[in-house]
Amino acid sequence: MTPAEQSLKAAEICRLAPVVPVLVIDDLAQARSLAEALVAGGLPALEVTLRTPAALDAIRMMSEVAGGRVGAGTLMTPADVKAAKAAGATFGVSPGVTERILDACAEYDLPLLPGAATATEIMVLLEMGYTVQKFFPAEQSGGAAFLKSIGSPIPQVKFCPTGGIGLKNARDYLSLSNILCVGGSWVAPKETVARGDWAEVTRLAAEAAALR
Ligand code: 3PG
Repeated sequence: MTPAEQSLKAAEICRLAPVVPVLVIDDLAQARSLAEALVAGGLPALEVTLRTPAALDAIRMMSEVAGGRVGAGTLMTPADVKAAKAAGATFGVSPGVTERILDACAEYDLPLLPGAATATEIMVLLEMGYTVQKFFPAEQSGGAAFLKSIGSPIPQVKFCPTGGIGLKNARDYLSLSNILCVGGSWVAPKETVARGDWAEVTRLAAEAAALR
């Protein structure tokens, strides 16, 4: 899959809702209910970070939830890409990029949302054909003001910023013309998930889905 084809897919996924939940799954037993609660609230695209031993099995289980589109985040190696694809991930997200990650996404046909945080990184990815990128870590790298500024010289790149985004500042990003959606963990707080309060997760998801 070429970078341009990957970006087309990534754009389609990013346009499903204003927010992509960024999920760290500690307990596999909660994966399915968590996905159902988020999808029910109106957030179908879910990023499961490969940061816990349960992540790949969680992707497998969450992929069965009707209406959901499950992707793998924190892709760091070609092995991560291969495993994510095998688990059923329909897209991938990486904090930054390496040549090996990009090669693996092309080889295994996994649409990647590649991470960038500077004008040069954005330009290098654009030159390859990646017109949809993750801006990470968003708040720490200049936030919405940076993205507004970069939209003047490089309007053809669209972003999904993540990192430090919540209900209070999501609109600052979503109001910009070069933002497709934002990513964030605030819709699935650790304690809320741990106690299995799925009604609250659905409420948070619905609140996020109504942004914009
Ligand atoms: C992450 O890498 O964990 C994501 O960017 C989410 O960041 P957040 O927890 O600040 O929303």
